Amino acid sequence: MRLDKYLAQSTGFSRKEVRRFMKAGEVIVNTQEVSDPALQIAHSDEVYLSGYPVEPPGDKYLMLNKPLGCVCSNDDSTHPTVLSLIDLPRADELTICGRLDVDTTGLVLLTSNGKWAHRVTSPRHKTGKLYQVVTADPIPESAIDKFSKGLMLINEKTRTKPAQLTITGQNKADVVLTEGRYHQVKRMFAAIGNKVEALHRVSIGSISLDEELEPGEFRYLTDEEINSI
Ligand code: URA
Repeated sequence: MRLDKYLAQSTGFSRKEVRRFMKAGEVIVNTQEVSDPALQIAHSDEVYLSGYPVEPPGDKYLMLNKPLGCVCSNDDSTHPTVLSLIDLPRADELTICGRLDVDTTGLVLLTSNGKWAHRVTSPRHKTGKLYQVVTADPIPESAIDKFSKGLMLINEKTRTKPAQLTITGQNKADVVLTEGRYHQVKRMFAAIGNKVEALHRVSIGSISLDEELEPGEFRYLTDEEINSI
């Protein structure tokens, strides 16, 4: 997006006013003073007006590499929350799209767009979530059929939706779910007499966890990633 549009949409100043700020040397992109209103700005650029950071306009869409020991909730008295890892203004207003357990790691999507969040999480949209699983006991071939037919979980009235299980090692598998019931992967393995020892979410639909992100780091989604949901 052009710099003048970016600034006008984010701050509410008119494009004419924004250009005046540029002429006065009040606009910095990354570390450079900028006076070209047509300069293209990417999500990764840092824009400052009169010394204050200017957020990208419109809704926010982020991916986070969730570390162990951190919870996917807005508030917690014992653990840090994923929102505390997002050092952006109004991070506490973001919706966490599909929560992970405290001991699960990997891809978490966050957004300020409620409709988009619903598309990520609603089973009606059949967005596949891929998990890598390590189990306590070996995984038998028979589990593939059981996962694909659906399992009855304790205290649930309906079978789980078909899930794709790929055995990748004696105690390792990839699982794709299109719904997100409470502790679903762990409970599905418990239903076949096994125990999940480690769980990591790799992708949601065609959005894959960026390998460059260390645990605890986040980045903005690209337009392509946003539009893929
Ligand atoms: N299933 C689980 O059991 N835990 C998670 O965190 C995600 C899916």
